[in-house]
Amino acid sequence: MTEAPSSPARRSVRVDLGDRSYDILIGPGLIAAAGAEISSRMKGRRVAVITDEHVAPIYLEPFMRSLAGGGIQAVSLVLPAGEKTKSFPHLMDVCDSVLGARIERNDAVVALGGGVIGDLTGFAAGIVRRGSRFIQVPTSLLAQVDSSVGGKTGINSRHGKNLIGVFHQPDLVLADTDVLDTLSPREFAAGYAEVAKYGLIDKPEFFAWLEKNWRDIFAGGDARIEAIATSCQAKADVVAADERENGLRALLNLGHTFGHALEAATEYDSRRLVHGEGVSIGMVLAHQFSARMNLASPDDARRVEAHLGEVGLPISMAQIPGSLPPAETLMDAIAQDKKVKSGKLTFILTRGIGQSFVADDVPPSEVLAFLKDKYPK
Ligand code: NAD
Ligand code: GLY
Repeated sequence: MTEAPSSPARRSVRVDLGDRSYDILIGPGLIAAAGAEISSRMKGRRVAVITDEHVAPIYLEPFMRSLAGGGIQAVSLVLPAGEKTKSFPHLMDVCDSVLGARIERNDAVVALGGGVIGDLTGFAAGIVRRGSRFIQVPTSLLAQVDSSVGGKTGINSRHGKNLIGVFHQPDLVLADTDVLDTLSPREFAAGYAEVAKYGLIDKPEFFAWLEKNWRDIFAGGDARIEAIATSCQAKADVVAADERENGLRALLNLGHTFGHALEAATEYDSRRLVHGEGVSIGMVLAHQFSARMNLASPDDARRVEAHLGEVGLPISMAQIPGSLPPAETLMDAIAQDKKVKSGKLTFILTRGIGQSFVADDVPPSEVLAFLKDKYPK
């Protein structure tokens, strides 16, 4: 499925996009190896490293040392952690930092952090000098299996999540699996929701493997590396087939329409809900809604609920702390989501485990009635 290069535990996945193809290296020790990996692939000798206040105290110094060892000069910018950092003021901070460091076309902008830092930094890299080289060093499980791959970048608007951004592919992704040991259990589980997503989209055998092996994945070691490599390969295949989301790529949004609406409803407050938790609840709702529409068996929805619940993820809206706005407000967020075409709702629905499909004519009235049923009483 994936090749094993230099280190026995290290895996490599290629994202095949012609002359914009790139490698995702996955395995232990990649922060220490970053300087050598980057300098062997890059003409320029300068980088700007963007990170956040949680990641910086643990990984910035070793990462900068690794870069220096590879003969690369680096400046760094540390931003606040959290979803609210995906905003115009911080986009400006990143652009100014990159320009201030005189990063040129052959140099690179580096995101060292989770999906928030990756999305924001990638957007800045996509617009500074009309497009600069970009390297992802994802440090959360979610970023390693999803957000660092595929070139979607952006920030949030008060109208919704990720509504402002560009496609800008990275030149290299370095996923050091050791760094996941410092991730909180809650954030690890949130990233796991996106791992499970690949099984639920079109890999029923992968989902069954996860049901059996999830404890080993949470514990670390080979099963974790295997799960990350399989997820990256799944995403790389979809991105290579449909980079700009004209069709197939929409499947990667399984659970995201409900999830994004819940994130907006909780005002992106990570104490209440983080992205992967929204996706977890969203995937359960997508399976329950598919059963309600007689597309899938309710047993499949129960199986998804059971697995995501046992790994510690929230599986219902009632588990979100605090009160939610009325179901109609959630519907407004769903309608504002970019998966709407000519007033009809586009949802990723399913005919069973690993049998997801794009439904682009879902009646809003059915969704509202379903949400009202599922709303915490
Ligand atoms: P995040 O970036 O907020 O990281 C989660 C938390 O973990 C943060 O507090 C961060 O500081 C901390 N952290 C990260 N790595 C750590 C480490 N190794 N040790 C200790 N703490 C660490 O959130 P996330 O879950 O990584 O990403 C979510 C974001 O990704 C959302 O904004 C979502 O919209 C976006 N996303 C984008 C895509 C895409 O294709 N571009 C796909 C999925 C999600
Ligand atoms: N996470 C959705 C996508 O990359 O398309």
